[in-house]
Amino acid sequence: RDKIPHLPEIYADSNINLLLRRAKENRTVDIEEYETTGGYSALRKALNKFTPEDIIVLVEESTLRGRGGAGFPTGRKWRFVIQNPKPRYLICNADESEPGTFKDRIIIERDPHLLIEGMIISAYAIGAEKGFIYIRGEYPAGYMILENAINEAYERGYLGKNILGTDFSFDLYVYRGAGAYICGEETALIESLEGRRGHPRLKPPYPPQVGLFGRPTVVNNVETLSNIPIIVTYEQYFMHIGPAGYYGPKLFPVSGKVKKPGVYESTMDITLNELIDIAGGPIGKPKAVFSGALGVYHPDEFDTPMDYSPKGFGGTGTTIVLNEEDCIIDSLIVIANFFHHESCGKCTPCRVGTYEQFNILKKFQEGTATEKDLDLLIHLGKNIPIGSICGLGYSAPNAIMDAIRKFRDEFEAHINGKCPGGVCF
Ligand code: NAI
Ligand code: SF4
Repeated sequence: RDKIPHLPEIYADSNINLLLRRAKENRTVDIEEYETTGGYSALRKALNKFTPEDIIVLVEESTLRGRGGAGFPTGRKWRFVIQNPKPRYLICNADESEPGTFKDRIIIERDPHLLIEGMIISAYAIGAEKGFIYIRGEYPAGYMILENAINEAYERGYLGKNILGTDFSFDLYVYRGAGAYICGEETALIESLEGRRGHPRLKPPYPPQVGLFGRPTVVNNVETLSNIPIIVTYEQYFMHIGPAGYYGPKLFPVSGKVKKPGVYESTMDITLNELIDIAGGPIGKPKAVFSGALGVYHPDEFDTPMDYSPKGFGGTGTTIVLNEEDCIIDSLIVIANFFHHESCGKCTPCRVGTYEQFNILKKFQEGTATEKDLDLLIHLGKNIPIGSICGLGYSAPNAIMDAIRKFRDEFEAHINGKCPGGVCF
């Protein structure tokens, strides 16, 4: 324990106390405290009361969607995997690296047994005897905390052979990434786990068909798996948490121009305006919200709920607030630089296109861009995804294209030698 690096001070709060029930304070909950506050009772219930099929039905009915960003229905993914023969594997994607995204680390660093319990129940449901947590290299404390917590769980009989006296056995391993964003893409993650360079594979086949070591595999995000003990505990009552079809708690990492940046837990009927208010209110007048790499929102849209409906702001829930003193172009350059740096280089349109996006935005920042550069950005935005094979290439132009649609005046102003935020030139 002494070796664990200092945990960063991240404010966390919740109005529903489910995922963050034990994680609001900046300290790690050990197994004793976890058990005395109801921990591992969902696992006991799952093993004693439910068959694996019962749990898959519960998860399907819960409407739980993947919290890593794509929002794919978790029950459906599990249903796919059990159609394929054993051995099957379970992987937790803890390679959280989207710009402005720091929600999973709160669970990992403060309440690791919630994730571990969720993984054991999930493994029981899908018939996996081995599981892996792939954690990003930049979370050294999280890695050590998980290792300690897994050891504690083995000592108490929650992991290993014949868990809690049943015939279900499950081993869990932690694997540390080496700092590449692309390894959060599930097939690159699998390649990396297998000991190869983290390059994405072509999909389909999807991991539930052909995954780790060629076997059927479920890859779920930290927050998704941490919902499983809550679903098993609440059963049908889970469907009273939040709006119809988008039940359950959601974590929102909020940063930028708000008075109290941090991780907030809420139901998904919350709007961006409400989220900004909960985060202490804005600093200055909000101009835009960058949602990681997913998109850019205009204040006119701030009353839209943060759910996974076609018009909702689902995804990772990442909320970076910009105010009138910020420049849209300057902020886009950070995102463009990130993608250009993190592109794995396998597909030429992504490798070259992300570099060009960055270069063109720099021209806007320096005051040398013309209307032609705006056209070129749009051209790249349409074509990079077409020539790419993974989510990085698909989403690399999202924020830029959204910004051109919603803040075109900022681009035009830069062409005319003015920066509305007073940041550039
Ligand atoms: P995707 O939409 O291709 O797939 C989502 C999930 O559903 C995957 O696990 C996939 O295997 C599964 N799936 C989809 N169709 C399937 C089928 N027919 N059969 C079986 N399984 C199927 O999206 P992807 O590429 O996995 O993720 C992209 C998202 O990840 C984006 O929204 C991006 O913003 C987000 N992301 C989040 C990061 C973070 O730090 N949290 C980092 C990077 C990306
Ligand atoms: Fe690599 Fe980009 Fe191709 Fe994805 S789209 S495989 S990140 S080059």
